[in-house]
Amino acid sequence: MNSPILTHSATHTGREVPEDTVDSLLSKMTLEEKIGQLQQVDASADPFPDDLIDGVRTGRIGSVINLAQTDACNRIQRVAVEESRLGIPLLMGRDVIHGFRTIFPIPLGQAAAWNPDLVREAARIAAVEARSQGVHWTFAPMIDISRDPRWGRIAESFGEDPYLTGLLGSAMVEGFQTDDLSGHGAILACAKHFVGYGASESGRDYSATNIPANELRNIYLEPFRRVVEAGAATLMTSFSDIDGVPATANGALLNGVLRSDWAFDGLVVSDWNAINELIVHGLCEDGRSAAAEAALAGVDMEMAGDAYARHLAGLIEDGVLSISLIDSMVARVLRLKQQLGLFERPYTDAAGFDPLVSDRALKVAYESAVESLVLLKNAGAVLPLREAQLGSIAVIGPLADAPHEQMGTWVFDGQKSDSVTPLQALRQQCSGKIQVNYAPGLETSRSRTHDLFGAAETAVLKSDVALVFLGEESILSGEAHSRADIRLPGAQSELLARIKALGKPVVTVVLAGRPLVISENLPNTDALLYAWHPGTMGGPAITAVLFGKEAPRGKLPVTFPKSVGQIPIYYNHKNTGRPPNASEMILIDDIEVGALQTSLGMSAFYLDDGFEPLFPFGFGLSYGHCELEDLELSQPEIGQGEQLKIRVSARNTGGRTGFETVQLYIRDITGSLTRPVKELKAFKRLSLEPGRCEVVEFELGAADLSFYRRDGSFGPEPGRFCLWVSTSSEGLQAEFSLGA
Ligand code: NOJ
Repeated sequence: MNSPILTHSATHTGREVPEDTVDSLLSKMTLEEKIGQLQQVDASADPFPDDLIDGVRTGRIGSVINLAQTDACNRIQRVAVEESRLGIPLLMGRDVIHGFRTIFPIPLGQAAAWNPDLVREAARIAAVEARSQGVHWTFAPMIDISRDPRWGRIAESFGEDPYLTGLLGSAMVEGFQTDDLSGHGAILACAKHFVGYGASESGRDYSATNIPANELRNIYLEPFRRVVEAGAATLMTSFSDIDGVPATANGALLNGVLRSDWAFDGLVVSDWNAINELIVHGLCEDGRSAAAEAALAGVDMEMAGDAYARHLAGLIEDGVLSISLIDSMVARVLRLKQQLGLFERPYTDAAGFDPLVSDRALKVAYESAVESLVLLKNAGAVLPLREAQLGSIAVIGPLADAPHEQMGTWVFDGQKSDSVTPLQALRQQCSGKIQVNYAPGLETSRSRTHDLFGAAETAVLKSDVALVFLGEESILSGEAHSRADIRLPGAQSELLARIKALGKPVVTVVLAGRPLVISENLPNTDALLYAWHPGTMGGPAITAVLFGKEAPRGKLPVTFPKSVGQIPIYYNHKNTGRPPNASEMILIDDIEVGALQTSLGMSAFYLDDGFEPLFPFGFGLSYGHCELEDLELSQPEIGQGEQLKIRVSARNTGGRTGFETVQLYIRDITGSLTRPVKELKAFKRLSLEPGRCEVVEFELGAADLSFYRRDGSFGPEPGRFCLWVSTSSEGLQAEFSLGA
């Protein structure tokens, strides 16, 4: 066994730090060892294959992925630290996307809470749980702007808005990393996928993207700019082809925008085998040129591919790549290992951590799930259920008691035995007071047979209200799980229609990884609560909201289309030269027909589906009813250095405590480039007792009005602006100007 070359000394703070700097370590490394640091390999096979152990021992592997168990992590780490020539510890990566063992709502659900503090807290818990099992690096947050609900990975995103995505992505980074990477339970975040993956054509995963330069800058890159500012230590490239240059070889974006414009000095990792896929894209002829393209573009580490391992040495020998380029790539890896304190503490002692799925973790999972729930319909105030007036409830639907499905996509370490399902929670809530009649009606969300409908109808007929849990199984969203038809799968719509026909009040809860097209279902339910995939504590959270122990308060982070044909549909679209106008539409046999087929009265809408979505971005009801009034601006015009103050009164005119998220949008009416019809700039969350009124204040300055302009520079443009303050992306309007 070789002993590690690193020696340690104590500083005045008492903490051990390596005597060797990254530079002196670099000076001791062979080229093969350097290239090894740029290699991440899959370590999921159990037992470890010989070539993995040998690769670690000989310094040809710098990082592993898919290992998340303390003993196994320590075992392979021991080979790196005690048996390799330089004793450089491994970096252990794992996809910890919305929780490690305790599962929080899918990111799209967390986004519906519009609560960065809660996202930060959930990420903190996930990080500590993951770190306790030996994980150093997660591949989250995913901050791909997602405008297409067919795309399975919309579940992993924070939705369609760059401001909200940037804010929540930054909070997640802070939760994972804290402000000291060597501190207790800190892990590296990885913002992904740089950039544009969410624009995959037709919502089909991995398909090409076509993003105009100004949309790329102002929409898709914007959240990345913010998380880089928030200190994200690593970024992952996107699989996608972006304007002919796949993201993994896109030097203009990686070296240009990321490193040069934004001064990002962290690590860039490829996505899984994405360097070799440059050959499949048709950009590179072979692995050698793929390795050269990626390295020159700014990709430091290769995930689960062999292009770097096979070709970097030859490329250096032939002078295609310089050794100083390789050194700077390796230095980024070593620096992170040093910042994490791995040279001093390479092993994990799970005993130093709270147990997994602690009470605290469950409490935050419950709060995240409560806040993620979006009430989309509540006709006749059927919700909250009045416990005292209920003798029995029917619990129907394939997702009422599906502990695995409620966790959603990207769950590697969560266990369904930890999940509390809606049925379990409802039984507990009703115990000794209300009869629970459970009949799933369908075995899974995809079942087509009506065989179990009869039993479901019988259960409803015996009950005072039907609670129907519909949606998608977890496998129907996530990576490589795009869908072309995003209505409720299987015979769920028929089941709901049959239940509605029985004449009892119907409350539908949808558990899904995306906005589903639910237009045909809305008439068949009195209330509809959108629960996404709510995670471990989904059942108690949903039950608490149904029974009014908690008020719903989620707001949609993404537009809900009426039909698949409307996609992509998003609130911050451009106005066009012929914006849609409801007054121009004439209904003939239920089909909306433009007034005249001349250049008058022709505008941007569908004959059959108009132009409005089913539910707009930012929409969500609560049990109270909040009205906004008295919108006031401090002045009609602000100078470049001034702040506009905006005040509005929020009044709860309902009979119950209400939660509201007051949203501020602007529109830059005329620009050197056309600007979106609305852009979210700020929001404030309130809780109001019935009859209470609260003044909400916002400030806007030139920085908030900035964008990448026609000449490529970033900044605001003088002129007129519209401003809206509202409880969804539709509301009270005013105007102001920015002076020159
Ligand atoms: C491929 C996915 O695109 C990426 O997001 C993920 O982190 C890696 N696989 C590792 O599992």
